[in-house]
Amino acid sequence: MSRFEDKVALVTGAASGIGRATAQRLAAERATVFCSDVNGVGLSETIDTIRKTGGHATGKTCDVSSADACDESVAEAISEFGKLDVLCNVAGIGIYGHATELTTEQWTAVIAVNLSGTFYMSRAALPHLLETEGNIVNVASTAGLVGIAYAAAYCASKGGVVQLTKSMAVEFAHRNVRVNCVCPGGVDTPLARGFKAPEGGRPELLSRMTLVPKVGKPAEIATAIAYLASEDARYVNGASFAIDGGQVA
Ligand code: NAI
Repeated sequence: MSRFEDKVALVTGAASGIGRATAQRLAAERATVFCSDVNGVGLSETIDTIRKTGGHATGKTCDVSSADACDESVAEAISEFGKLDVLCNVAGIGIYGHATELTTEQWTAVIAVNLSGTFYMSRAALPHLLETEGNIVNVASTAGLVGIAYAAAYCASKGGVVQLTKSMAVEFAHRNVRVNCVCPGGVDTPLARGFKAPEGGRPELLSRMTLVPKVGKPAEIATAIAYLASEDARYVNGASFAIDGGQVA
């Protein structure tokens, strides 16, 4: 498939896991991919893997919790490629523990990366997406749809991403810019491996996460992101697409 021929995509969180798989998938479908992540080493590895398979990718480090850094990243992509067709907001962090023990710094950090970062990148990209009638795919989580114990800040941030997605979808629908999000369940990445009940916690409260015997692969989420970002999803807007093996069904 070459659904992204002549398209330019910016992918955050591209150094690892779902973001890396998304950058690779879009490039495999002939997008030119501007990769972004706070982790420069992982970012270079992703760009190398894409180039080695004949794809087009470049990138720059960016901390999405900084509005200025997001503005600069989008400006750099535009100065290099002249336009932007797709923004994938994948960067994210998780901090887990009892809600009563979550520090103000931990709360602020999770909201800053997962929710504010998604907004800052979208705000910077939207003027360019309006020109190309492009689209945004955000990565929320099943934690944005149902409660997950020991993940208060993470759930709040991802619920925010679901609603941010819907608000922007409604606001820009009449200008042919679509905004959707995916809500993955457990996916085998460094982020997910850190999630377990804290000391004194009740593992059975994680049961929604463990209802499903299977764990997802980053490439399976990337497949859904590529669909939403493509013309195949022309009539899909404001959707929260759970990809979770049935976890929230
Ligand atoms: P990951 O840890 O493999 O990748 C996350 C990436 O985000 C890393 O490359 C990291 O360097 C980057 N990042 C972290 N803070 C950043 C910042 N301030 N600025 C820019 N980049 C930053 O984890 P994974 O699982 O691939 O996570 C990707 C997204 O998927 C996240 O938004 C996560 O919340 C979401 N997600 C993951 C699930 C899972 O089970 N792995 C389930 C549901 C959602």
